[in-house]
Amino acid sequence: MKPSASGRALAAGAVVVAALLTGGSMADAAPASGTATAAAAPDIPVADVKAHLTQLQSIAAANGGNRAHGRPGYQASIDYVKAKLDAAGFTTSVQQFTSSGRTGYNLVADWPGGDPNRVVMSGSHLDSVTSGPGINDNGSGSAAVLETALAVARSGYQPAKHLRFAWWGAEELGLVGSRYYVNSLGAAGRAKISGYLNFDMIGSPNPGYFVYDDDPTIEKTFKDYFAGLGIPTEIETEGDGRSDHAPFKNAGVPVGGLFSGADYRKTAAQAAKWGGTAGQAFDRCYHSSCDTTANIDETALNRNSDAIAYAVWQLSQ
Ligand code: TRP
Ligand code: ZN
Repeated sequence: MKPSASGRALAAGAVVVAALLTGGSMADAAPASGTATAAAAPDIPVADVKAHLTQLQSIAAANGGNRAHGRPGYQASIDYVKAKLDAAGFTTSVQQFTSSGRTGYNLVADWPGGDPNRVVMSGSHLDSVTSGPGINDNGSGSAAVLETALAVARSGYQPAKHLRFAWWGAEELGLVGSRYYVNSLGAAGRAKISGYLNFDMIGSPNPGYFVYDDDPTIEKTFKDYFAGLGIPTEIETEGDGRSDHAPFKNAGVPVGGLFSGADYRKTAAQAAKWGGTAGQAFDRCYHSSCDTTANIDETALNRNSDAIAYAVWQLSQ
């Protein structure tokens, strides 16, 4: 189910108001007109997202049970995602860095076209911890961003802004890959990024629906999507700066994102509005060997994947 046309028209009006009222937000880059012909985002097939998770789990199983920085399972994960993007027509590049004496990699994929001075970027960390395959943390975000990118290619979408997608290395060692990338851009490169959207854990088995409380335009876009589905959201409070949006935010880039919860427990009030189990962690397998394909709530994965596509489409035209 998609939000109504009138909901979209209201949202477009709000973007114009926000552009007049705020400085330094994503709204500054919005065109003065053209929202009336906005292209609708496609529904992201959750079966395709889950198929990527199955592949990531097989990669971990074939490589000592993890996809951690500096291990063969990480390299195989990069190869898997890159091959899909290359076949779909993306311009990919692998950025190499060193952390803890081991080589790490970021994968960056550019969709040809759009204004190079207004880049809408979406990313997820692709590394797991050493203790498990990392399917919710963060196969979930990685697979959903991959499928969103593939949906861009399938639809031949040519937005006004330039689309870029990234998969970060060594997040679990302290946001190492994303920080390396942000530093490598320099001030001029950073100024071209209109917004960075981060997705780290979006299929938690006892899910919450959390929206990062950062750039107002990005935040509103996600909130509008969930409001259109009738799903209440909360502001993400489990730890500002605990994922790859932090280096972008610290460098002045507008950021936003989604999160379905990690080791914090769901309250009774949260279980009343979202279902699931009160008093239990959002993800009981966080950073454990049981973070497998069984550790995914398909409904949360589906809704969050569709929300990513909605935001990428909405913010790029
Ligand atoms: N980044 C953490 C990890 O990968 C997960 C996490 C905890 C998180 N709290 C968060 C991600 C808040 C985003 C927002 O281990
Ligand atoms: Zn994570």
